[in-house]
Amino acid sequence: MNIKHLLDKAFSEALSKLVGSDTPGIVKQAQREEFGHYQANGVMAAAKKLKTNPRELAEKLIEDIGLKGTCFTEIAGPGFVNIHLTSDFVAQQLNSVIKDSSLGVPSTEVSKIVVDYSGPNLAKEMHIGHLRSTAIGDSLVRVLEFVGHDVIRANHVGDWGAQFGSLLAYMDQLRQAGQSLSTELTDLEKFYQAASALFKSDESFAKTARSYVVRLQNGDNECLSLWNQFIEESIRHSQEVYEKFNITLGVNDIRAESAYNNVLPIVVQELEEQQLLVESEGAKCVFLDEFKGKGDKPLPAIIQKSDGGYPYMATDLAATRYRTQELGADKVLYVVGGEQLLHLRQVFAVAKAAGYIHEDQEFLHLPFGGVLKEDGLRFKTRDGADVKLIDVLDEAILRAFNVVSEKNPALSESDRGEVARVVGIGAVKYAELSKNRSTDYIFDWDTMLAFEGNTAPYLQYTYTRIRSMFRRAGTDSLQGSIVLGENAELRLGVKLLQFPETIESTLDDYQANVLCNYLYELCGFFNTFYEQCPVLIAEEPSKTSRLLLCELTAKTLRQGLELLGIETVEQM
Ligand code: ARG
Repeated sequence: MNIKHLLDKAFSEALSKLVGSDTPGIVKQAQREEFGHYQANGVMAAAKKLKTNPRELAEKLIEDIGLKGTCFTEIAGPGFVNIHLTSDFVAQQLNSVIKDSSLGVPSTEVSKIVVDYSGPNLAKEMHIGHLRSTAIGDSLVRVLEFVGHDVIRANHVGDWGAQFGSLLAYMDQLRQAGQSLSTELTDLEKFYQAASALFKSDESFAKTARSYVVRLQNGDNECLSLWNQFIEESIRHSQEVYEKFNITLGVNDIRAESAYNNVLPIVVQELEEQQLLVESEGAKCVFLDEFKGKGDKPLPAIIQKSDGGYPYMATDLAATRYRTQELGADKVLYVVGGEQLLHLRQVFAVAKAAGYIHEDQEFLHLPFGGVLKEDGLRFKTRDGADVKLIDVLDEAILRAFNVVSEKNPALSESDRGEVARVVGIGAVKYAELSKNRSTDYIFDWDTMLAFEGNTAPYLQYTYTRIRSMFRRAGTDSLQGSIVLGENAELRLGVKLLQFPETIESTLDDYQANVLCNYLYELCGFFNTFYEQCPVLIAEEPSKTSRLLLCELTAKTLRQGLELLGIETVEQM
């Protein structure tokens, strides 16, 4: 049950009946604890209009809409009515949520949603630049699936284009020199750098490389087999990263750029038939009024280059066509960096003009900022190369191992290893997801691995505190129900009931930090409760009731973290 919805609907309907006008969305969560639980904004204005006392009006409303016993109101400040949930109502709701595997989150009308995320370029190893798209996208699909949507993961990897020319030419050169390719390909990044260096310094190599691009595009068997070998190795590598990073993408979620090869000429033909294509400097382009470059010059979307090759734009157009026509998507979300804003705006606009995207289909770009170092500069290795994602993850686990060993030296080495994996990976992900995705963020090991503050280790640790209490209690199955007496119990109870609202607002603007903040606050409420209300030494029925509150807190924490792609452990 979504409490905010319940109150909002009841208040809005009753108020519009009284005042005659539509008063949508008047109830919202109170931002500050001292205000209580919710606030209604339209009541003051309505009372003025009706020339009645706002408090009396609010109480009358509660009575009229049958919410008596559910909540009571209080007038606060100049402009709103505070709504407090009664402890009986909260307890009754909690007792039903605790039996519900979806923790009170109501099922939604199901949409088919494609989420385009991660999408590394297979010519190189995944680097820190892929951290955000991968973590944000994966959390998004988890939340969308949790509320019941039909989600399709789309890993639009780059596996085609000019850069593969030098890679294939270099592979061929090594092969002819009798070197073992599988050994050479163990470090893709080095391999890529060596091939690019040759391309820059050796004119005849560059020439060969260019000819390999043409051979590849023409389907030359030898080239294709080298290409396949490279791609296979690269995919094996990215899957290894996904596994370590606890990402739900599998090989079947890959739909690479090359998968659209055969459709590209059809796209050109369809755009031609619709008279959208214009030839400009030998290239086939679409000019739309809304895109202007420097000096107001029309900005082209290039669909086919003068040499016949197809750029990134063409593949992306073909992908929109595939996603609407073949997959039947209602919505497509692109978790792609902010630097591709113009590119995706053009893709969507051309696709709409071409009829690939219809009015009732929503294509949205969810941009994000960059990952910076403490000094505010982009993340690079000392020699200016990108930092490999796998190295970041390994370092996170290593650092977490040191932290965990210091905190809990009594844990066996293998247990510490497992805890370090869960904490290290969780810390990296949480640092990422707890920030507003649209801005840059600073990657700082010490902050993200801290056991205090808004961090994964803090949330994971709070979870283990509850679990260890249950071990001490010696029971996991509780008979009885929640009754709320103390203020700290009520506050925790209300917070627990706000999980469904949180999931809803997380999806409003696809911001995982809404969920992170909720979990952080939930831990705060729990810890206050735990300080103020003894659990194991309490008398019945308080003892069972409190244990049940603890259990629901643990379940909510675990579920919330799982939606962020973060695991929990039983002790740390
Ligand atoms: N491969 C692209 C890159 O590395 C990201 C792909 C994003 N998705 C898309 N449909 N364009 O920048």
